[in-house]
Amino acid sequence: MEYQSYSVKDTKQIASSFAAQLCSGDVICLYGDLGAGKTAFVQGLADGLNISDYITSPTFTIVNEHKGDITLYHFDVYRIDDEDEMYEIGFDEYINGDGICVIEWCGKIAGLLPEKRYEISIFKDYEQSDDYRLIKIEKRG
Ligand SMILES: Nc1ncnc2c1ncn2[C@@H]1O[C@H](COP(=O)(O)OP(=O)(O)O)[C@@H](O)[C@H]1O
Ligand SMILES: [Mg+2]
Repeated sequence: MEYQSYSVKDTKQIASSFAAQLCSGDVICLYGDLGAGKTAFVQGLADGLNISDYITSPTFTIVNEHKGDITLYHFDVYRIDDEDEMYEIGFDEYINGDGICVIEWCGKIAGLLPEKRYEISIFKDYEQSDDYRLIKIEKRG
């Protein structure tokens, strides 16, 4: 599925609607450059899961936990240089657990992703406008 976003609000709305179909154990992989809107998308997901925490990128902590209808584990693996570092933080247990995992920069840990996952790519297009984003959502596995 493809969605067009013209503002942060649109991106959050698209994410929040997408959240309605999510189940315990789902893994969501986010792709897109710095400033694409990955964290904005997670903020919308959190709204859709009735999470009241303010969501920021867990760049230094790698993972943040947010309680809602289903617990959301928000990863930002930008700083991961070696997939082994993910084992150290217990990544396996998170992705095989009951929460929903959403991962920013997951191209960095491509070898660790489960077959069954959602892949979400966010693209800018300056020919449209500074705030335009194309959001592609694909279900794998
Ligand atoms: N349509 C849009 N969707 C999401 N973010 C947008 C959009 N238009 C402009 N922005 C801006 O782009 C930036 C996205 O930041 P962020 O969500 O932190 O990106 P990322 O996590 O991908 O690095 C914010 O400054 C936001 O205001
Ligand atoms: Mg981010």
